[in-house]
Amino acid sequence: MLASEVFERDFTINSSGHLEIGGCDVVELARVFGTPLYILDEEKIRGNCRTYREALKGVYPNFEVVYAGKAFLTQAVCGLVYQEGLGLDVVSGGELYTALQAGFPAERINFHGNNKSRAELMMALKNGVGRIMVDSLMELETLIQLAMETRTQPQIMLRLKPGVVAHTHTYAQTGQEDSKFGMGINDGVAMKAVKIALASPHLKLLGFHSHIGSQIFEVAPFKATVDVLTAFMAEIRTQTGFVAQVLDLGGGFGIGHNKQEKPRALREIVAEIGRYARERLTALQYPLPQLVLEPGRSIIGPAGTTIYTVGNIKRIPGIRTYLAVDGGMTDNPRVALYQAVYEGALANKMNAPLTEVVTVTGKCCESGDMLIWDLPLAVPEPGDLLAVFDTGAYNYSMASNYNRLPRPAVVLVRAGEAELIVRRETYEQLVQNDLMPERLRVKPEAEPIAK
Ligand code: LLP
Repeated sequence: MLASEVFERDFTINSSGHLEIGGCDVVELARVFGTPLYILDEEKIRGNCRTYREALKGVYPNFEVVYAGKAFLTQAVCGLVYQEGLGLDVVSGGELYTALQAGFPAERINFHGNNKSRAELMMALKNGVGRIMVDSLMELETLIQLAMETRTQPQIMLRLKPGVVAHTHTYAQTGQEDSKFGMGINDGVAMKAVKIALASPHLKLLGFHSHIGSQIFEVAPFKATVDVLTAFMAEIRTQTGFVAQVLDLGGGFGIGHNKQEKPRALREIVAEIGRYARERLTALQYPLPQLVLEPGRSIIGPAGTTIYTVGNIKRIPGIRTYLAVDGGMTDNPRVALYQAVYEGALANKMNAPLTEVVTVTGKCCESGDMLIWDLPLAVPEPGDLLAVFDTGAYNYSMASNYNRLPRPAVVLVRAGEAELIVRRETYEQLVQNDLMPERLRVKPEAEPIAK
């Protein structure tokens, strides 16, 4: 069996038997840029942005697609999603800074977060961020105070907990009552927030937001969220006369990293949610607010591939073969954190039959530093290149320097051209923030104090 048969993927394999991404030979990319290397396929990112917009176009009149930067944010990615007509969701001062440095228009940025600092809120106000997504009553009060101080009138959305439990990893559930995110509808906090916001001349309440989780495959929890939110909006209208201009249903649409994860076509899911929101609002005779979706993973996840160089191969008879690569939990912590299951293949041996089963491990000093368990592979040798697929989301953005491993480079590929969009970290950069007090300076001639 070949990799293309076992993994049911549409690989592009060139005449040398090498994997090709965006028209580029992956072996050549590894030679030029080194490994580990994140590769992003530009056309796939653009295609996914367009799928969202096209799916909503037919079913909902006024909508916006906002890219959730937490999935993968660099200045180049900001430019790309901007060109595709998307807004941007940021969740920290650092993400906001990145977007502003890229020249992303502040008015098209949504600022999220369950604990935005005063400094971060000030940064948002001073730069004219389009929407501040208020997460709590305490934040609402702080924002009113800061708006008064800065004589600004920020536009806000209230993040609500719809009380919906999505079927996904518990770390990725966010819509349930027992969540650190958002304000409860059932406990009356949301209603209180609406009344405070409406009473304040310092804020402009645009509408409501909820995000129920990530890597979700069913449409039902999104529909349940629409039910809860629209019922709440109708109730608010009755009690206060307020009509929301914006309804933001968050992101969370799942992607398939392996054969077990089989999402329906993105276009269908998105259209179904848009259609349902429209029906519910129409049934309530509610003027259609702008509908916002905030996808991250489904835009960029499938567009990413990580390339590693194979190092040690340890065959333990009767147990397993460990194949160690030059990265690991530092560039992909999702296996250790969420037991995520990835697929991979040897990029330089794409036409070789898969005759072995190996377990891919990283180079960190941890037994939990695993990348793929029981992967069917062509006979591996040190120096081979392992490609791990669908690593575009929450890999680079969650990468760390554990064991002082430098973060990999990121290369954007398109039509046979490769552009470096993030340089590989250097050892110098790893120590650049270290300070060395003079009294601790290592002097070879001096004896250690402890003997
Ligand atoms: N909007 C809000 C408010 C969010 O919190 C998130 C993700 C999104 C949108 C985008 O969700 P997506 O479409 O990417 O599923 N680190 C985890 C995922 C955490 C998701 C956090 N919030 C993982 O690697 O699976």
